[in-house]
Amino acid sequence: MAISSSILFCYLLFSLISNVASSFMYSDDRRDVLFPQILKEEAVTRLDELGKVSDANGYLQRTFMSPASVRAGNLIRQWMEDAGLRTWVDHMGNVHGRVEGLNASAQALLIGSHLDTVVDAGIFDGSLGIITAISALKVLKSTGKLGKLKRPVEVIAFSDEEGVRFQSTFLGSAALAGVLPVSALRVSDKSGVTVLDALRENSIDIAEESLLQLKYDPASVWGYIEVHIEQGPVLEWVGFPLGVVQGIAGQTRLKVTVRGSQGHAGTVPMSMRQDPMTAAAELIVLLERLCKHPKDFLSYDGRSNGSTLESLSSSLVCTVGEISSWPSASNVIPGEVTFTVDLRAIDDAGRETVLYELSNQLYQICEKRSVSCIVERKHDANAVMCDADLSSQLKSASYAALKRMTGETQHEIPVIMSGAGHDAMAMSHLTKVGMLFVRCRGGISHSPAEHVLDDDVWAAGLAVLAFLETHV
Ligand SMILES: *[C@@H]1O[C@H](CO)[C@@H](O)[C@H](O)[C@H]1NC(C)=O
Ligand SMILES: *[C@@H]1O[C@H](CO)[C@@H](O)[C@H](O)[C@H]1NC(C)=O
Ligand SMILES: [Zn+2]
Repeated sequence: MAISSSILFCYLLFSLISNVASSFMYSDDRRDVLFPQILKEEAVTRLDELGKVSDANGYLQRTFMSPASVRAGNLIRQWMEDAGLRTWVDHMGNVHGRVEGLNASAQALLIGSHLDTVVDAGIFDGSLGIITAISALKVLKSTGKLGKLKRPVEVIAFSDEEGVRFQSTFLGSAALAGVLPVSALRVSDKSGVTVLDALRENSIDIAEESLLQLKYDPASVWGYIEVHIEQGPVLEWVGFPLGVVQGIAGQTRLKVTVRGSQGHAGTVPMSMRQDPMTAAAELIVLLERLCKHPKDFLSYDGRSNGSTLESLSSSLVCTVGEISSWPSASNVIPGEVTFTVDLRAIDDAGRETVLYELSNQLYQICEKRSVSCIVERKHDANAVMCDADLSSQLKSASYAALKRMTGETQHEIPVIMSGAGHDAMAMSHLTKVGMLFVRCRGGISHSPAEHVLDDDVWAAGLAVLAFLETHV
């Protein structure tokens, strides 16, 4: 009796723990709508397999048109064909798989992500979006619904998003969106090989005219969706496998140069210094304060209103990632310090307001410290908002997927901003875009420690499936 009740207790405890550990317990009668073999087991196996296709020994690296990228493209092509898609590789090395459905001339849904990686990458960044799309279509093939899609669906594995080889992001998606300048083809990598050469080495003979022909006719496209790992900690923090992306943040990069009076560390009294290093330190701390609490700095005046301030409070992020000083010696008060600022926000007007306020405050500090300051604006990219309809459709699809898995009604699906750039940014020049983020462990990305739970891979696949079943 004592033994059996303790076994029962252990069993209850175990089932309690396993329910907590994996919120996705499901009963056998739901297996037929959950497709675990395709959406979970096979998808995870394929992610692992693709993660081994590398140009480097011992770590993952695939750059534009490298041998490993070509091998990865071939593998993806096989998987696309296995899902019943017609495949081809275009003049920019993008791999396509398409099914026409009931009406080949209806506007197509494009689903994509990138097949290239950073150096020493994780296996989910990019690949997850490609594989979940292929898996969802494979389910439709297995249930006989692939030919009954109301519009064509095309999966695209983009050849270059990270830009490691040519320092140029979005070679693949920008070409399809028609926003890649012809000059991009003549950019060369570290060993002097140009984009044109890299393509020709792989028997892709692209001429400048064929670049223009790559552009999709906007009238032939219905929209673009992308599934991607979050690359940040928010979903894990709120305890959700999926989130809908509100938009991709706009970005400004500044270079700040602070000049003071170079001198001997031992002989110049503290009261007589014009030290650009301590000034830079104060400026950096100011930047942090402003970006943490924009409401304390910006007022409801002509330049900003309530909604701008709200969106800034939730999305503004600022980083000083690089700093250098001259002459950089331990016994010398520096003559000059430069540092970079990376500032991102979802609201372009808000970003301008912050930049205006930042430079005001910055020059005040420089004046107070009698150093001279120059702020140079090095790079600007406007925010891209995801389409409201696509976002709400992706939201219902995620909701349906999680409900199918858990049998429970979920709370609101989180809506988050993307601080990182994605192919969807380039594709937004062609068509409306929507994005779904998938939780990743610790928010870690661009690292071999990048990890997505098998169940979350599954949830993402189910969400794409639910989207296709309902809206396509
Ligand atoms: C197919 O789509 C085109 C373009 O939207 C439309 O004009 C045509 O009527 C559709 N054909 C059928 C049979 O629905
Ligand atoms: C706030 O300002 C932004 C940009 O200037 C504008 O788009 C928005 O409509 C304004 N909102 C309100 C509530 O006035
Ligand atoms: Zn990515």
